[in-house]
Formats: sequence, C-alpha cells, structure tokens
Amino acid sequence: MPSVYIKTYGCQMNERDSEAVSVQLLARGYSLASTESEADVVLLNTCSVRDMAEQKALSRMQNVIGADRKRGNKKIFGFLGCMAQSRGGELIDQLPGVDLVLGTQKTHRTGEYLDALLSGSRDKVVDTADEPGSESAIREHLGHGVGNDSRPVTAFVSIMQGCNQHCTFCIVPSTRGEERSRPMEDIVAECQELASRGVREITLLGQIVTSYGRRMYPVLDGRSAFVQLIEAVHAIEGIERIRFTSPHPKGYGDDLVDAYGRLPKLVESAHLPVQSGSNRLLKLMHRGYTRERFLEIIAKLRAVRPDMGVSTDIIVGFPGETEEDFQETLSLCQQVQFDQAFLFKYSRRRDTPAAEMPDQLAEEVIEERHQRLLAEINRIAMAKFEALVGSIVEVLVEGPSHRNPARYEGRTRTNKITVFEGSPRHQGQLLNLRIERVGSFTLYGNPAIIGLD
Ligand code: 5AD
Repeated sequence: MPSVYIKTYGCQMNERDSEAVSVQLLARGYSLASTESEADVVLLNTCSVRDMAEQKALSRMQNVIGADRKRGNKKIFGFLGCMAQSRGGELIDQLPGVDLVLGTQKTHRTGEYLDALLSGSRDKVVDTADEPGSESAIREHLGHGVGNDSRPVTAFVSIMQGCNQHCTFCIVPSTRGEERSRPMEDIVAECQELASRGVREITLLGQIVTSYGRRMYPVLDGRSAFVQLIEAVHAIEGIERIRFTSPHPKGYGDDLVDAYGRLPKLVESAHLPVQSGSNRLLKLMHRGYTRERFLEIIAKLRAVRPDMGVSTDIIVGFPGETEEDFQETLSLCQQVQFDQAFLFKYSRRRDTPAAEMPDQLAEEVIEERHQRLLAEINRIAMAKFEALVGSIVEVLVEGPSHRNPARYEGRTRTNKITVFEGSPRHQGQLLNLRIERVGSFTLYGNPAIIGLD
C-alpha cells in the first residue's frame, strides 16, 4: 500500500488537521512514512499567516520534487492548508510537479483524491471550494493519535473554524472562511471518547474560540456559549485539564473570568493576543479593545487566579508604527509581565486592508525593533521561570522527553515544559514536582514528597 509523509507548518489547527488526515489515510490502508524520500505521497500542510511560512513550504516542495525527479520515480505531491486555500491552482502553475491542492474545508476528502491520483484516473486535483458543514464533517473528528503517540495523554479538539473579526493585518478570514461552530453535543461526545481512551487534557481549538456558538446557543444566566461548552467538558470524568486556543481578548468577558474562578480543571493559563500596546495601532488593526481594556482584563484574571500564566502574540512593525507606538508596546510588556510572548514581524498579506496602508516600514526598522522587544520579552519570561525554582508544581506527564528520551516530560498548568527522571508508569499521571533548576525555557524537577518539609 502507498505510504504518505505529512509535514505540518503553522498553528495547532493545522497539527490537528494533519492528525485527522493521517488517521483517515491509515483507515484507507495507507501507511505513514517518516521521511519524504521513502514516501509515495508527500503532503505539506501549509500556513499563510506570514510570507516566511509560505516561502518555507514552497522551497521545501521544490526540493522534494527536484530530488524525486533525479531518482526518476514519480511520487504524488500535494499542498493542504491555508496556502493551498489562498493560492489554489496558481501553485501548480508555479510548481508544475504538484498534483494536489486541497483547501481548508476539504481535508476530509484527501483519501479519495489520493486514490484517484495514484490510480491515474485523475491527473491533477485542485479543490478549494467552500463545503457547507465542513466544520462538522464527522470523519475529520474521529481520528486521534498516530505514530508513536497512539495513546496520547493530551488531545486537540476542534470546536469551530473561521473568523469574522477581520483584523486588518490578517489573512485568516479568507483562508479559513466565516465562523462556523460544531454542535456542543458532538464536541462533548468526542471529549468523552477521548477520556475513555486515557486522554486527560483537552485543548479546545479554533481560530477565535471565544466566539464559539454565539449564533447557535443563547446566553444562559450571563454565560456565553463558549463558557457553557467549557462547563460541559469540565463535567466529563477523566478529563483533568482544559485549555483553549486561539481566543480573542474581547472574548474574556466577566463570565469567562468567573469560570476561571469556579472551574478547577480550567487551567490558570490564558493566551491574550494583544498585538500592540498603542491605542492608535489597535484601532488601525481593528482589534476592538484599547490598551486600558486589555490591562483591565488581565487584572480581573489575576484577581480570580493570582498565579495565572499569561501569554500573548505581538506584531512588530505594523504599517505606520512609530517609535512612540513601539514604546507603548514595550511598556505594556513591562506592565503585564507576560510568561510567554510570541513576536511576529509584520508581513504584508494579500487582500488585507493593512497591505494597502501607507507607511509600510523598512525591513531594517522592523528587525531592530524585533530584536529590542525580544530581549525584553526573554528577560521577563526567564524571570518567571527562575521564580519557580524551589516551588512545587503540578505536571501532567506526557511521555519521554523530546530532547532526551531517557527522561520524561510534561507541562505545568501554566504550560511550561518540565523534565524529570521518570518511567513509563508515570505517563498520564498528574505529578507534583519540586523545581530544581531552569534550562532554556524548560523546568527541571524531582518528584516532591509533600509534607516532609
Ligand atoms: N504579519 C505578522 N504577524 C501576523 N499575525 C497574523 N497576521 C500577521 C501578519 N500579517 C500574527 C498575530 C496572530 C498570530 C497567530 O500571527 O500576532 O496573533
């Protein structure tokens, strides 16, 4: 049977889609290859958020097609994901060796298209059309866990797709489409199934999860559909931790803040993508909040959970960003003291309003600000790690450490990777570890014997 190699770029939604495609293909009799060279089919699941992500996937594809041509045995090559959606057939014009271009609403059809390409009944396939109901296409949600991770402790569960926010820098509304949510009972059933297979931590996934179900389920006693969903997942026996990504800061209403106070499985870890500390830029970005409102949300979250881990995304060099605007971002970072911040150099994306704005910044200016902000962000994050030395943290053990398979690793409730001397019996356990030292953004701990100190 043909073997498939899948490489994933970008966000967790892509990771989840690749996992679903892998399980779908295994069920059709394909096998999974661990390298491109030994595979009969090479699929790249792509990201479009920045130009760099697209360029990486394009040059990788060019390389594998080139290597294949030299060997003289024609494999099948395909693009999935956001770049496939936004560029469509143009990708085949650019790289004629590509056989398949499949949009973001079509991943559940990967198997049938590959069968057709492999049997020769189709020569090329480009399908980027909308598919009503694709957010619920049931086959897409059945498969979890492939390869070495056939008994995963953590799982991603897709709850909605698309985004209607239309931030002026962002290509996602055109690559992932309008907001569509899955029915709550389907999501809960999937989580129950995962719990019965040993999964203990669920990450609810979507492009703007805080907008989940807002046109499907009315607000109940002040609780939004998203909070109602968290409550339903919280009630599932065996699930010990709940996370979600990606939210929008405007979704952290009082009902969600309150949920952190009353639902212990909802871990004290919140991602709030701020993008900029300047009100002027926040308005140009169409973010729908001010710096003051953002700080108020953080204060409310820390009032209910003083140990709340807070992470963010920041764009450096949005069109028209002045040194003063940038200073506002720096000062916001100092004020909030983020546990983790993902910095993105602004990238001009096709068909977005910001691409047409005046004062696009020179690359050197963006690079220099990026370096300055990165230094500050790293300093703040390291201090957060150092502060944990000597304390006891709860870690959900996921398995052998990626960097050193002789050790075990898991994550704290605030999402920090923690490595310790473990054994297979620890897998899936919630362990209390005493933190002994800090490596590069990794904690090192020892099982703690509570009550002996
Ligand atoms: N340029 C740079 N970063 C971007 N992001 C989204 N669009 C762009 C862009 N055009 C970043 C935002 C978002 C993260 C996932 O990617 O910070 O939160």
